[in-house]
Amino acid sequence: MNTQSEIIEYIQEQFSCSKVIKLEKIQTLWSGYGEISRYQVMVQDGAKNIIVKSIVPPNVPTHPKGWQGDVSHLRKIKSYQVEANWYQDYASTLSRASQVPHCFGVKSFAIDHPRHESSIILLSDLDASGFSVRKQHLSVDESKVCIKWLAIFHANNLQDNHLASWPKGLWATGSYWYLATRQNEYHAMQESNVKSAAYKLDDKLNRCRFKTIIHGDAKVANFCFSADLSKVAAVDFQYVGAGCGMKDLVYFMGSCLSEHDCQESYEELLEYYFSQLSAALQSRLDSCEIIEEWRPLFFVAWADFQRFLLGWSPEHHKINDFSSAITQRGISLVN
Ligand SMILES: Nc1ncnc2c1ncn2[C@@H]1O[C@H](COP(=O)(O)OP(=O)(O)O)[C@@H](O)[C@H]1O
Ligand SMILES: [Mg+2]
Repeated sequence: MNTQSEIIEYIQEQFSCSKVIKLEKIQTLWSGYGEISRYQVMVQDGAKNIIVKSIVPPNVPTHPKGWQGDVSHLRKIKSYQVEANWYQDYASTLSRASQVPHCFGVKSFAIDHPRHESSIILLSDLDASGFSVRKQHLSVDESKVCIKWLAIFHANNLQDNHLASWPKGLWATGSYWYLATRQNEYHAMQESNVKSAAYKLDDKLNRCRFKTIIHGDAKVANFCFSADLSKVAAVDFQYVGAGCGMKDLVYFMGSCLSEHDCQESYEELLEYYFSQLSAALQSRLDSCEIIEEWRPLFFVAWADFQRFLLGWSPEHHKINDFSSAITQRGISLVN
């Protein structure tokens, strides 16, 4: 059976309906690992749009930046399993303020199946629920709705000294750039004090006392906005796992704010994040202690992401004077 008919059959099963139409391909998944598309299903109360994330690993993985091989392939395969686990076991435990798609089902294949690395994830269409706008850049004010989303998302799962087995089914270390999974990039780095501090930065983040479940790929492209930009929902949970909330915050800010806005407003946005985090925690934990631990980790997390960029794509536009200055501050905190 080909992928297309498999998808249609799976949708028919899940929705107990016979009429399913593919409306459009939204985009190919990163490195050609499948595609994300919009389908229409005819259910009792009429036509309904859904989103299908269909994972079909290529036979010969290729990568936009030239990185290939088992490490990268295994990371991606695991990331889709993590995303499926997250939708099945964690998404429904979020508070209503953390808007994410509803998952209608995940089809995966047994380990002895020839297509065991493929899977199909059926999601509600965020465009249909009022989140139809995508942005590439944000002003400082516009960015706050996402920062609030992150703070509420982080407050949901904040832990003081978590168990080693937590969070089951997700990444033990959330984010796609942490050092243990980026050894090729680390070895490709030119010698510098960022490279010398790489393990210390990583260790500082990994050993923090307060951790939560971070999104792990919280760039602006993974947020869907309402028309007036007052509300936001997030997608793409492939790298969700345990971590310090600062990792999501620094990566998000670098993804959408200009260097000038980062420079002028990072302190304001950090305070805004902490105020939203405290409000969302509702005294469940002592937010003063969390803030005291996490505030310096803002710099460490920024330096840790810069370490990844310097190995992965040293000419990347996100490497700028501001990010380099913040990185030096992060390094001074671990040396
Ligand atoms: N449930 C959804 N509703 C509407 N749009 C979605 C949904 N899921 C994903 N998208 C859109 O498709 C894009 C790609 O999906 P994503 O899961 O981020 O795939 P990738 O892993 O390739 O980045 C998103 O940036 C978003 O614009
Ligand atoms: Mg994405």
